[in-house]
Amino acid sequence: MSIKFKKVSAFDRGILLDLLTNAYSFDCRNKQCWGSDWQTFDDFFFDNLQIADKCGFVTTLNYEAIGFVSWDPRNIPKYVEIGHNCITTKCKGNGYGKIQLQEAVNRIAQNDVRKIIVTTNYSLVPAQHMYESIGFKEYQRRKNESNSNFTGEYIDYEFFYN
Ligand SMILES: CC(C)(COP(=O)(O)OP(=O)(O)OC[C@H]1O[C@@H](n2cnc3c(N)ncnc32)[C@H](O)[C@@H]1OP(=O)(O)O)[C@@H](O)C(=O)NCCC(=O)NCCS
Repeated sequence: MSIKFKKVSAFDRGILLDLLTNAYSFDCRNKQCWGSDWQTFDDFFFDNLQIADKCGFVTTLNYEAIGFVSWDPRNIPKYVEIGHNCITTKCKGNGYGKIQLQEAVNRIAQNDVRKIIVTTNYSLVPAQHMYESIGFKEYQRRKNESNSNFTGEYIDYEFFYN
């Protein structure tokens, strides 16, 4: 097993959309609901590669892209918000999501910031376990009245550096 973290700019436009589409393929409603957000996100990172390389990375296993994580630094020093992140279906459940998130937490720590926040959904159980096992604490739940309400309520997490 050889896990490596690579710059987004080392990949072709569309990779982030492909990884998200794959990781969320367990329910076709995910792509119907979020597919255009994923496309917008991919476009933004590939139109702004200096931001993409500072605020995210792609994880590879034996040279194949298996996931990525991104974050939004615009509220530093108050907090950083974790954004899209995923691991492809065939690679899930092997600890890679946790390894990837821990690397993101380590990189974010290079900034002048003490807190990271992230929001997930009630039905995204592996994501909840991943955040909790890295040390994120749930601090509130919110009703989801958007067109993604089939994924259940929002769960907001926060993480504090010591
Ligand atoms: C969330 C995601 C990135 C996790 O990646 P992964 O490589 O499968 O996760 P890991 O193997 O590192 O496991 C992380 C935790 O989830 C648990 N977990 C993994 N798969 C699980 C499953 N199917 N059901 C319940 N728990 C599960 C693991 O046991 C581990 O928790 P632990 O440390 O308490 O044992 C991946 O499932 C994914 O891409 N999901 C779809 C996209 C998504 O939800 N992104 C996050 C949006 S907020």
